[in-house]
Amino acid sequence: MLQSGGQALAVVGTGYVGLVTGACLAGEGHRVVCLDIDAKRVESLSAGAVPFWEPGLPELVAAAAGQGRLAFTLDPEQALAAAQAVFIAVGTPPKADGSSDLGHVRAALRTVSSHAGPGAVVVVRSTVPPGTGDRLQEELRGLGRPDLPLVNAPEFLAEGTAVRDFQSPDRLVFGGPAEASQRVAGLFASLNPRAPRILTDRPTAELAKYAANTFLAARVSLINEMARLCDAWGADVRVLAQAVGLDARVGPLFLRPGIGYGGSCFPKDVQSLAAEGRAAGVPLDLIPAVEAANDAQVAYALATATRMLDASLAGKQVALWGIAFKPGTDDVRMAPSLRLAQALLDAGAQVRAHDPTAHLPQALRERGAEQAGDPVACAQGADLVLLCTEWPAYRQVDPGRVAQAMRSPRLLDGRNHLDHAAYRTAGFKVRGIGVGLQR
Ligand code: UGA
Repeated sequence: MLQSGGQALAVVGTGYVGLVTGACLAGEGHRVVCLDIDAKRVESLSAGAVPFWEPGLPELVAAAAGQGRLAFTLDPEQALAAAQAVFIAVGTPPKADGSSDLGHVRAALRTVSSHAGPGAVVVVRSTVPPGTGDRLQEELRGLGRPDLPLVNAPEFLAEGTAVRDFQSPDRLVFGGPAEASQRVAGLFASLNPRAPRILTDRPTAELAKYAANTFLAARVSLINEMARLCDAWGADVRVLAQAVGLDARVGPLFLRPGIGYGGSCFPKDVQSLAAEGRAAGVPLDLIPAVEAANDAQVAYALATATRMLDASLAGKQVALWGIAFKPGTDDVRMAPSLRLAQALLDAGAQVRAHDPTAHLPQALRERGAEQAGDPVACAQGADLVLLCTEWPAYRQVDPGRVAQAMRSPRLLDGRNHLDHAAYRTAGFKVRGIGVGLQR
């Protein structure tokens, strides 16, 4: 039985966004029922098993469930009938043209329209193209539910820090009719009171989500291009990023160059915004270029690796340190490491990878790529270590041991993460990304 206190809420979808939203709202004192159509997932969540790696989330789920404020169900009536607000947090995967597939959102909306009580507010938490909410509100009318107001409340949660991001947001955005938006804002009232609450219309809220990710992705693409320029002129992008980031108008964050951004958000959202903009007839130059520059960065890393391996990859063995798209997660979606692994295999190299949490996908294993249990074993017999993910543990590895294990000690530090001087002392030929040829 769910406890009393707080408001009765439902969350449709127990994926990353839905589960974090549901558990965190329960943590703030609401009574939350999460609905999914995946029986296995509901069963394992009900038994306390969180199906992905997110720090703090299993504890939060266990505590809220233990206090009777969080439950999981397959039954729409049980989840929705008494809910004062229903969050839709289902996937919006990319279609072949880059635009978002809204099939799951529409299916969820139909379920909500059949089971929600009178006047419940529908909160779209999934990332949806601008204009979607207005159309969904129309659809609700068509489904005979003009009483259900619809608000867009985008999430700004990064993987690995999602619970913290939820609990202490920089800002909260609510787009929809004023009274309904205020009701939804009230559900988040206990969170960081200094965070501005932005109440706006639906398209602005929807676009705010894409814009935030596109701005951040653009910064990464821009610093990556700066890194290439640094390599050309023997400059150091780390110092450059500091010099630029100390300008208060620019700021220091998201200026770390690398082998390209990945994950389930930046690639998809930048692509989707470009596709939706094109469909709306808006001429766009910069947004598609953010993605093109990211593709070019992966190619740049591959070209650098190839140069380090005397211009030939065939028969060479490459050790990839890090598979996850960033540290602190086991997520490999759109990870640049996988694109590099693919390209290395295509060129006839052998690939062995290591990651503290993430796993090589089956498709790469079938092509002969292997996964090692530790970084030194990964480097055994290799001609190059290519660091793809800046896991802190890689800093603890002894360069001397790695050098001994390798056929020929070379390091391409794709995230400028390791102590290059120590690796040079151990006999390595070292390159980073944009750190000058000799540093
Ligand atoms: C991103 C946003 O940061 C969140 O605010 C947003 O809510 C989320 O997407 C989402 O749309 O759900 P996330 O994908 O978890 O979060 O990862 P980030 O930490 O933003 O990193 C994205 C990629 O950029 C990673 O591959 C990372 O390695 C790369 N990156 C980031 C850099 O290459 N350099 C940097 O300076 C920062």
